[in-house]
Amino acid sequence: MKRVLLVMMMLALAWALLGMEEGGKEGSIPYDKFEKPKRCGTSCHENIYRQWEQAMMSQCYTHKWDEIEYFDLAVAHANADPAFEGVKAACDGCHAPLSYLAGDNPPPRPSEGSRANESVSCDVCHTITGFEGDTPFNFNWTIEPGRVKYGPREGAESPHHTTKKSDFLSTTEFCGTCHNEKSDFGAWVKATQIEWKEGPYAEEGVHCQECHMTQGPMTTAKGEPVREDAWMHLFHGAHDPGKVRGTIEVRIHPDLRMTEPGGLLKFTCALFNQKTGHKFPTGSVEDRIVWLHVEATDADGNSYHLPVDKKGFDGEEYTIAADVLAYQDMEVPLGLDDFEGIQRDGVPYGDRIFRMPYFDPQGRMTIMQWNTKSFGPDYRIGPKETKTEHFTFEIPFEAAPGEMTVTATLNYKKLVEPVGKFLDVPAEEYETIVVNSHSTTVEILP
Ligand code: HEC
Ligand code: HEC
Ligand code: HEC
Ligand code: HEC
Repeated sequence: MKRVLLVMMMLALAWALLGMEEGGKEGSIPYDKFEKPKRCGTSCHENIYRQWEQAMMSQCYTHKWDEIEYFDLAVAHANADPAFEGVKAACDGCHAPLSYLAGDNPPPRPSEGSRANESVSCDVCHTITGFEGDTPFNFNWTIEPGRVKYGPREGAESPHHTTKKSDFLSTTEFCGTCHNEKSDFGAWVKATQIEWKEGPYAEEGVHCQECHMTQGPMTTAKGEPVREDAWMHLFHGAHDPGKVRGTIEVRIHPDLRMTEPGGLLKFTCALFNQKTGHKFPTGSVEDRIVWLHVEATDADGNSYHLPVDKKGFDGEEYTIAADVLAYQDMEVPLGLDDFEGIQRDGVPYGDRIFRMPYFDPQGRMTIMQWNTKSFGPDYRIGPKETKTEHFTFEIPFEAAPGEMTVTATLNYKKLVEPVGKFLDVPAEEYETIVVNSHSTTVEILP
């Protein structure tokens, strides 16, 4: 009898472990256990609701580029190769947690108006209780939807629900459960919270919330007085050009103030990350592109492009724009034969790119983070880091004598343009945002 009991207990344990391995929450909570954000918003938390509604957090599932990547690449990849079956639900774990928990994967398309469209809603974040394991990643949060809503303050009263204080909400680990991601190949394809933890802001105690949910005077619930230090649900990032602008400061100077045609000048450009609490770019690093363009204009208005000087580190070729093709792995989900790939960068050849390339199992550059096995050099700009770049310029013989202006411009796109065009992504996803620029002058002697 005892032995039977022991065997049963061991079976139960094995079952529980297996469940954990597969992210045991999948299919464990029906949709109707969660309240709709509109209800939280219109009945009580108007300001917070309007802020959230304008942030990407309310569009994780419905946003067009997410729909394209999920259905045309990820789900299609799983359909073409059973090894990727798991991504159908895994994307939803962070982008449509209600569907993930309901076991509705893939959910209906956004146009069908299902509850997947609620994306990361009030009732998801405010019923999260903690996380499993040591490192927050791959939606390893624990959740208990119901009458109790967790908030940052003691003694908050609500006629609608019970409010409990949770210290977890105020930690970076809370954000990290969705902002750190490991691929099935073991690669950290998103590491925003890990980057923060290794950077200077962790030591200073400046959390994600302080920069993305800044505190200021606002009413947080109907009928309540203004709170001087209300947490704003801004969640502004790559999709707020104002947040991106000025992130990096740019200064450029020459080694000599004058020379003649045929002479050599060396320009040095300093780039200081004054604004981000993690690397720049972070998060969807596989999609983003940040590049430094330097151009000289002579006294007659003729312009000359200055390619960056090579430094000679391993994998540097991925950080200088060039005439090469990439992203061949899209041929599997898209069902293409002999796909040669598409242009890798879509920016002027010779410009420095601040990126970390993602490689598929065959070592080719990819934007499919679930198909990522390894990385090239991490040439992004860390928090409070200054990078320098050099530009050696042989003054052309045809350059006009007089003042020559040399301008360094740091540009940003949320998505590499050739990829955006190829997949028919709305053009605003690959618009150019000028992060910063600076000019210097030199004298060209006759
Ligand atoms: C991505 C997660 C997330 C989502 C989505 C979210 N919140 Fe919050 N909310 C937080 C965090 C985190 C805090 C506390 C910040 C801290 O303590 O650092 C908070 C704080 C609050 C507070 C207390 C504010 C204060 O200053 O006392 C209220 C009320 C609130 N949220 C309501 C809502 C409502 C309503 C929605 C939906 C419209 C919502 N939240 C969506 C994470 C979220
Ligand atoms: C349940 C998962 C989840 C949690 C928890 C979460 N996020 Fe997010 N967050 C997402 C997803 C998914 C997106 C991507 C939206 C999209 O599709 O572009 C996102 C987007 C963002 C963006 C916008 C980026 C942009 O492109 O503009 C910011 C900023 C952000 N989150 C900050 C936070 C902070 C700060 C916290 C913690 C207080 C947090 N998030 C907690 C899932 C989450
Ligand atoms: C010191 C302020 C600061 C802190 C702390 C900070 N961020 Fe940011 N974050 C920024 C700025 C500025 C940007 C805009 C530039 C950019 O896109 O990187 C940004 C961008 C982002 C983006 C969009 C990146 C992209 O390319 O899509 C996400 C997501 C994000 N932050 C999440 C977080 C999370 C999660 C944390 C905590 C682990 C955090 N941030 C901590 C300042 C901060
Ligand atoms: C561990 C959580 C997590 C998982 C799993 C995840 N994502 Fe995301 N995803 C995020 C976060 C957080 C962001 C925002 C990062 C940023 O802004 O830089 C994001 C951003 C994106 C973006 C870029 C959105 C933009 O606006 O530029 C796309 C597209 C996307 N995810 C699709 C997917 C697909 C498809 C899958 C499944 C193969 C997936 N994600 C799996 C958390 C996740």
